[in-house]
Amino acid sequence: MPNPYGHFDDENREYVITRPDTPLPWLNYLGQDDFFGLCTNCGGGYTFFRDAKLRRLTRYRYNEIPYDNNGRYLYVKDGGTVWSPTWKPVRTPLDRYECRHGLGYTRIAAEKDGVEVEMLFFIPNGETVELWKTTVRNKSGAKKSLQLFSFQEFCSYEAQNDATNYQRTYSIGEVEVEDGVIYHTTEFRERRDHYTIFGCTRPLSGFDTCRDAFVGVHHGLHDPCAVLAGQSGNSIAHGWNPIGSHGLSLELEPGAEESFTFVLGYIEHGKENKFAAPFVINKVKGRAAMEKYRDMGAVDAAFAAVSSRWDELLGVIHVKTPSAVLNRMGNIWNQVQCMATFNLSRSASLFETGIGRGMGYRDSNQDLLGFVHLVPEKARQRLLDIAATQMSGGLCFHQYQPLTKKGNADIGGGFMDDHLWLILSACAYIKETGDAGVLQENIGYADQPDDAKVGSLLDHLELSIRYCLDNCGPHGLPLIGHADWNDCLNLNCFSTEPNESFQLAAHGADDRVAESLMIAGLFLHAANLFAELYDFLGQAAPAARIREGYAAIRRAVDEHGWDGSWFLRAYDASGNPVGSAQNPEGKIYIESQGWCILGGVGLEDGRARQALDSVHEHLFFEHGCVLQQPAYSGYHVELGEVSSYPPGYKENAGVFCHNNPWIQFALMRLGDGDRAFDYYLSICPAAKEDTIDTYRGEPYVYSQMISGKDAAVPGEAKNAWLTGCAAWTFLTVSQGFCGIQPDYHGLRLDPCIPAAWPEFQAIRRFRGATYHITVKNPSGCCKGIARLTVDGRAMPLHVIPLAQPGAKVEVEAILGAA
Ligand code: BGC
Ligand code: NOJ
Repeated sequence: MPNPYGHFDDENREYVITRPDTPLPWLNYLGQDDFFGLCTNCGGGYTFFRDAKLRRLTRYRYNEIPYDNNGRYLYVKDGGTVWSPTWKPVRTPLDRYECRHGLGYTRIAAEKDGVEVEMLFFIPNGETVELWKTTVRNKSGAKKSLQLFSFQEFCSYEAQNDATNYQRTYSIGEVEVEDGVIYHTTEFRERRDHYTIFGCTRPLSGFDTCRDAFVGVHHGLHDPCAVLAGQSGNSIAHGWNPIGSHGLSLELEPGAEESFTFVLGYIEHGKENKFAAPFVINKVKGRAAMEKYRDMGAVDAAFAAVSSRWDELLGVIHVKTPSAVLNRMGNIWNQVQCMATFNLSRSASLFETGIGRGMGYRDSNQDLLGFVHLVPEKARQRLLDIAATQMSGGLCFHQYQPLTKKGNADIGGGFMDDHLWLILSACAYIKETGDAGVLQENIGYADQPDDAKVGSLLDHLELSIRYCLDNCGPHGLPLIGHADWNDCLNLNCFSTEPNESFQLAAHGADDRVAESLMIAGLFLHAANLFAELYDFLGQAAPAARIREGYAAIRRAVDEHGWDGSWFLRAYDASGNPVGSAQNPEGKIYIESQGWCILGGVGLEDGRARQALDSVHEHLFFEHGCVLQQPAYSGYHVELGEVSSYPPGYKENAGVFCHNNPWIQFALMRLGDGDRAFDYYLSICPAAKEDTIDTYRGEPYVYSQMISGKDAAVPGEAKNAWLTGCAAWTFLTVSQGFCGIQPDYHGLRLDPCIPAAWPEFQAIRRFRGATYHITVKNPSGCCKGIARLTVDGRAMPLHVIPLAQPGAKVEVEAILGAA
């Protein structure tokens, strides 16, 4: 059945939503530098500068009824009818509605009784303004007299305080209005040196800044008093809830149209010259921001620049395979999602409220893997920021705030996988750019104020390896601490108290017992990468030392990590196996199957194949591979949060999409492109359109979880956008299936495809040169190169040497037995 809510428009790189009542609000992101907006298909969401907790400009109420009930609104009053082009908040039935989520913008157009309103929301490159370009057309045969009202509710910047501390916030709200431009100045009188502007480029009939005056204390956003009355109140907010609303009167002859722009901007003033007169804010920068966009040419040019930046970004890698679904995800949406996860980590989505987790340590390292090809310079800075939150002992702050770049002390460290991910991201960055100099950057350590102890990036990588080797348990396997990648496998927690965090609850002497096979596998992979990096640097002794570390953990995995048909998951705090056939539930977990194989275990002796066959038998079903089986039916104090979820949800046997690509990579290690591709499709959102009422999530981006086979409704997606699945899946597409792998000395080519693909093409820009790659598969195999030519010359099988910047290189590979 086709998706009744919308469809992909690949040519325009848009997802087109044709009905506003989607199964859940479907989100898009505006902005990709310092300024971001969440924008749903009904205009819902909010805008912030850098940090959704500390610099939130506009309000949003999570978990509203209905969902998604505050945002960028415009009311149209046409005689007795009031409607909104975004459908919400008024929800008057529309004659036509169309939302186009595009790359960094959302365009919503609607028509009612012969009036068409089109709104284009976007954030110009590198600026801290959000523009709502608005066009109103009279398509009817009669003259139209319309009253329009914009609406946006301000947030008092610190979003948690804003949402909870009304005894203060209801008394601090302040605004100024000059020439119809609303300046939201709450707290500017004291410590803030930033304010928000909300203006309109068209002459106004009035404005409102006081919510109670505009909406009415006993009315809602669907029927604000000022709109019903057809008249703004020119209200000035003193405390309570400051809003921004502009009133506009339009007279449109048949066929006539008018365009204008609303400008929502963040102005940072610096501590000097904050005031123009006592307690009158200095508006110089605010006026300038407004002025610039009074010219519609400037608005259009800014929009064109957003699109051309995406042309440039998406030109780095472009593939043409026989799979339309893979092409549209890999070339467009998967990369757009990688941009969002890189920018926002797990901070702000419709499921992450922006006041909880900031930037995750492990998350941001993994997000970087899917982003580094897009803007390597930003990836470099991020690498250094992340490394700076590592402590001198080796553990890392699990999260940090994007605005301050300081680790969050309330959660601290103790997640024993965190430090290892830095090796993956550092190596990925150097392979992409060749910039090994980054290893010498001095970063220091988070627990050493004033750079008391200097440490280069290379020192941080060494520390990460050493910490892991020095912190192994009774079986010689890495200790798990609060948790590893699976935040919910809390083997040292033993919590019986509902008000405490599973991750942080009681840790004691037992901490030195519980061990993780997932960390062991990740360590093996990281050690391989690190040794290879030393090879590249020409440092034989450290390379050999890292390989000794590899051998030690490898021995422990070989001796204590195999359960008979798959890899164990862990040993608990009593030394009992977790993820073993002997366990009544939770017999097999996914993470250790992926990571032990990616760490090189079981490739020669059949265990890798056997583990993956076990995954197929026990974990795979039509919506992906579930995290473990059988699901825990009840709470196990010795396992923690993983057993807290009802069966089939989240870590308790949901399809946790982030770990599925690890299995796809493991299958590709074994050359099984067919099964890897079936698994790829099983979680691919673009492949869910015909079951969208079950899936419910956005069909253009991955969700963190799809409910598993034990769930009441299997196949339902939750927590779209901010998931490590984005980066990892992009890697399975680019480096796995298409096999285009950045390497220190050039590109390495090693595709692994479904046997039925006759050929595919790819274009890859790499260190300034452009490679046009054709891979032919005349004998119907999945993996293995029989012949490789670069610009017509035969090359050693996987090697595409580095070309001069500016060069255009033709690469042709024939798959088959070497
Ligand atoms: C979730 C995890 C998440 C963690 C963050 C848990 O409740 O199940 O997926 O990573 O919270 O602290
Ligand atoms: C979500 C977290 O963001 C991520 O860090 C974690 O690995 C997964 N949940 C699994 O628990």
